[in-house]
Amino acid sequence: MGKKLILVAAIGALALAYGCSGSGSSGGTTAASLADFEYPLTSKNVAGGEEVYAEFCEGCHPGGEKGDGPKIAGKMESPAEVRWKVRTGGDDMPAFGPDKISNTQLEALLAYAETLGAVKR
Ligand code: HEC
Repeated sequence: MGKKLILVAAIGALALAYGCSGSGSSGGTTAASLADFEYPLTSKNVAGGEEVYAEFCEGCHPGGEKGDGPKIAGKMESPAEVRWKVRTGGDDMPAFGPDKISNTQLEALLAYAETLGAVKR
């Protein structure tokens, strides 16, 4: 009986620790998790998004294809995943905060990425 309680508590602690582990070290003031980026994709500003893409993404993902970064065209990731990637960066990908790409620009970027098949609505 006592042992079982301890086990339950240990599993609870593990679940808590695991739940917080996804944030990584983004260096920001608040660690962002994927859930923070889960809201619908509403922008239709493909032309505006193409400009943002040309300025910030094209160098490593030329036309959505492989460059210094991997091919993203046709990957069909959720908007939340792509937002999260842009905001938090990755292994060899820089993070782009709202000071570089505003939320409005990011939504336009997703509208353009949708035309590459890199994001699904
Ligand atoms: C300096 C080069 C560089 C720039 C600039 C860059 N990326 Fe990346 N990107 C990478 C690398 C390298 C990876 C793979 C490693 C990783 O996931 O961190 C990657 C991964 C990704 C992925 C995940 C692909 C997958 O298969 O999971 C997405 C989506 C992405 N980038 C989108 C973007 C967008 C949108 C921009 C512009 C805002 C951008 N990247 C700018 C280098 C870059």
